[in-house]
Amino acid sequence: MEVIAVKNEQEMSEKAASIIAAQITDNPDIVLGLATGGTPEGTYREWIRNAAGLPLSRLQTFNLDEYAGLSPNHPNSYHRYMEEKLFRPLELRSGQTHLPKGDADDLQAEARRYEQDIQEGGGIDLQLLGIGENGHIGFNEPGTSFDSRTHIVKLKPSTREANARFFDDKEEVPYHAVTMGIQTIMESRHILLLASGTRKQEAVTNLLEGKINEDFPASVLQNHPYVTIIADEAALSGI
Ligand code: GLP
Repeated sequence: MEVIAVKNEQEMSEKAASIIAAQITDNPDIVLGLATGGTPEGTYREWIRNAAGLPLSRLQTFNLDEYAGLSPNHPNSYHRYMEEKLFRPLELRSGQTHLPKGDADDLQAEARRYEQDIQEGGGIDLQLLGIGENGHIGFNEPGTSFDSRTHIVKLKPSTREANARFFDDKEEVPYHAVTMGIQTIMESRHILLLASGTRKQEAVTNLLEGKINEDFPASVLQNHPYVTIIADEAALSGI
């Protein structure tokens, strides 16, 4: 794993956006895996700010995950997050962007359909990832099998707590989500993981120095041939 150490969140975002832009320029048919949460917000802002001249009309995007039970229009759905923070500003067409439907009647079937769409799209060229404080990637909580594909997960109380800041009332945070599996993520050709702030210090230390095991899902990335980690001083302060 290559580690790019940067000063702060702003530098992390600028670096990540420049890597994404360079790869889109190299391959306008790129399939991008996208993430939500607080961490990639600055990256999306920088990508939009520097989007002039980028060939955006042919790329495809697949998001990592979506909350179960939230409709695409729900203010806290990841659909809505992506629409507002990236897709609309970049004027991507709806056929270019993909997220699992959290309010599908049959969520298991939806998970299978989503996995199939990723495979039929040729797999993911560049996957953007954040990391949960407990080492989750996507919504793959500790204990998730490394062989998993897109599936339904029960969120840990600590994950619901960490994400409650985005909701008006923490009771509203869903208990389940649909997420790409660990195997799905591992099949991406290049993984770009971002981490910023002291809140992520322990997770980043574990990711870089811990043993590979299913109790710390991100540790699986040590087995991937092409991972780039961009982390700021605060996140790297435990190394
Ligand atoms: C959320 C998302 C993850 C994200 C993580 C960290 O639960 N499902 O994709 O990486 O938690 O979030 P944040 O960037 O807000 O710290």
